[in-house]
Amino acid sequence: MYEDDQQRFAFASALIAEAGALALEYFGRVSTLAVNSKGLQDVVTEADVAVENLIKNRLADSYPSDAFLGEETGHADFPGSTGIWVVDPIDGTQPFVSGLPTWCISVAYVRDGAVVFGLVFNPVADELFTGGVGVRAELNGRPITPHPGAAVTDGLTYLGCSPRVTADQVVPVLDRLLRAGGMFLRNGSGALGLCHVACGRLLGYVEPHINSWDCLGAVGVLNAAGARVSDFLAGDGLLRGNPIVAGPPAAYDQLVAVLGAPNLVP
Ligand code: IPD
Ligand code: CA
Ligand code: CA
Repeated sequence: MYEDDQQRFAFASALIAEAGALALEYFGRVSTLAVNSKGLQDVVTEADVAVENLIKNRLADSYPSDAFLGEETGHADFPGSTGIWVVDPIDGTQPFVSGLPTWCISVAYVRDGAVVFGLVFNPVADELFTGGVGVRAELNGRPITPHPGAAVTDGLTYLGCSPRVTADQVVPVLDRLLRAGGMFLRNGSGALGLCHVACGRLLGYVEPHINSWDCLGAVGVLNAAGARVSDFLAGDGLLRGNPIVAGPPAAYDQLVAVLGAPNLVP
């Protein structure tokens, strides 16, 4: 990693802690927050907007020439060679509004079509996942590695699902996973699910469509941990999303077969 990027990583580590503290303050009074609908099974609160604005403003002050893409405020046009910060202020908004602990903040820094580093912070569990190019994959400063298994029978597979896909796209994936002897889990935060693959709590992750702000922080961690991840940034993945598969290299091909996504770029 360039020296500038090492400074960015250190900056992001402090920033995600600050953002996590703000999000946790909102979570403590979540029953008083207004919950607005963005669509079927898709909600947003003032916490999502406030946390994104905090991160966006801090980055604009310190790295004014870097681009920014956030779930709640979108992106400005940016020159192709400029690095871009990709942020989900709260991934797992539905667990968040339901008072469940499985939500997090996700920050990734991407340049030249690759994730330079990623950070994912779950303030309730006080767990920070980090990793990147030349940055060891860590959970709270300790090294992490993917699950040792080689098949879906060896552990749990996270099946990601959102209102962006139909039941007809998801049910066959569940069918294939169960028939192969696997078992599914979904906790409402794709970023956390992917990080739990990076640290071996889960065997694998499959989702027919996910957005860049949901997954790129975790992709930085997964890459550094030695997991195999589908090429999420292929095509227009940054702005339009893609399917995703992640897992230990030995189980990857089986996970791809379980997802069965025709437009997946392995
Ligand atoms: C969603 C969560 C969910 C994943 C979806 C995402 P949000 O993000 O990460 O687990 O399956 O693809 O859209 O709406 O909670 O920020
Ligand atoms: Ca999200
Ligand atoms: Ca979100």
